[in-house]
Amino acid sequence: MVETKLDVSLDLAYRLLHPRNTVLVTCAGSNGKPNIITLAWSMPVSRDPPIVAISIAPKRYSHKLIEETKEFVINIPTISILRQTFYCGKTSGRDVDKFKESGLTPAPAKKVKVPIIRECVAHLECKLLNQFEIGDHTLFVGEVIAAYANNGIFDKVFDVAKAKLVYHMGGNKFVTLQDEIMEV
Ligand SMILES: Cc1cc2nc3c(=O)[nH]c(=O)nc-3n(C[C@H](O)[C@H](O)[C@H](O)COP(=O)(O)O)c2cc1C
Repeated sequence: MVETKLDVSLDLAYRLLHPRNTVLVTCAGSNGKPNIITLAWSMPVSRDPPIVAISIAPKRYSHKLIEETKEFVINIPTISILRQTFYCGKTSGRDVDKFKESGLTPAPAKKVKVPIIRECVAHLECKLLNQFEIGDHTLFVGEVIAAYANNGIFDKVFDVAKAKLVYHMGGNKFVTLQDEIMEV
């Protein structure tokens, strides 16, 4: 039997690429005050050297901060901080101190001035290499200069039974992965 294919409106086409691993990016302006932005649009783009890309709309406060200091950290949350993850994607650092209001804890990074988020389970410290305006977003491309994960949850791959990563479906809907891993 041939499946019927129903059109998806083009403004929702991106959601066919969800659910997406959701991250909390920390950044800071030249005044040093840190901020957190929730992002579903991040990806690795080079293995050696290790380079990643994140897509941020110019109207976000974090966009200005990353342009100022050219550093950011990608922090990986789990569902234990889902509420805080959503909060950081619904409020702006222009109006609130997200560390203070969410209860997430800043901790020193290893190689950049921007803090990491202690409650996250893994961290990629990045130096901005380049940025590209693409449609209504800016693609920030960063070299990973330090990467680390909590003891016991990552051995070449995540132990997804222990690290319940956050995947964004769209709107306020999230999913996480089943414990079982299929090996091929
Ligand atoms: C789950 C989730 C994923 C998001 N993904 C992105 C994204 O990939 N790019 C983006 O520009 N904004 C994204 N947002 C929206 C920003 O996180 C949101 O506008 C935030 O309030 C901006 O904060 P800021 O003004 O402090 O930078 C997302 C929001 C949520 C809740």
